[in-house]
Amino acid sequence: MKNTSVTFKESKNKEKLTMLTAYDYSTAKLMDESGINGILVGDSLGMVCLGYEDTLPVTMEDMIHHTKAVSRGAKNTLVVADLPFMSYQTSVYDAVVNAGRLIKEGGAQAIKLEGGKDMHEQIKAIVNASIPVMGHIGLTPQSVNSFGGFKVQGKSEEAAKKLLEDALSVEKAGAFAIVLECVPVKLAKLVSSKLSIPTIGIGAGDGCDGQILVYQDMLGMFSDFTPKFVKKYANVGEVMKLAFKEYINEVKDGIFPEEKHGFKIDDEVIEKLY
Ligand code: KIV
Repeated sequence: MKNTSVTFKESKNKEKLTMLTAYDYSTAKLMDESGINGILVGDSLGMVCLGYEDTLPVTMEDMIHHTKAVSRGAKNTLVVADLPFMSYQTSVYDAVVNAGRLIKEGGAQAIKLEGGKDMHEQIKAIVNASIPVMGHIGLTPQSVNSFGGFKVQGKSEEAAKKLLEDALSVEKAGAFAIVLECVPVKLAKLVSSKLSIPTIGIGAGDGCDGQILVYQDMLGMFSDFTPKFVKKYANVGEVMKLAFKEYINEVKDGIFPEEKHGFKIDDEVIEKLY
């Protein structure tokens, strides 16, 4: 069955939603074939694919390029693409135009943007343009400089109250789902119970309506740092390194390629060239 923003909303209180990030065609295809509900083309691609220290340098062109690739690989999975830093904070107009580009050029079916009350007008305008919006509150990585680092959010009474107000504002603006990142477990559970739209948690515990992870983290492919909330489901990085080393050794030792890996030509054609 095709996952859509509507099936996401309908799953609330019925079935947990599963999401992973992806940034290319073959990974998206594998996830789609595995039955994942949603793929986020996250601006985390700046860190895990492009090697930046944070997500701030990611451009609209980066996002469109990777969203196009993912969209070609995802058949039944909902493809959500991130609006990058400064593509929507600048004005409601910019938000609608850039959200439209991720749908029209990238082939996504929904967009995600970071922020609560402050982004209410942007979310409303994008939804009014018939583009489904996923919100994102808590640790919003595009605000890393204001937060003073990648830190858990909503721990004090004031911050917890603000987080709940932000969630309600994002829902009121028309979002179909909302990511809660690095939020204390009990707060995420409370927020989830107050909303009629699904919450997708990352570092927010089991009280959310769904979960998302960055795929390089859960496959053990990104070694720069591993957040506390990540569970490694495989050690693909080690498997890759073993295969790379074996290939290097075999080429150097003349073991690869073998005869079966080559293409034939008639001897008489070759002889004429000597
Ligand atoms: O960019 C991203 O990958 C994200 C997830 C961490 C939710 O926003």
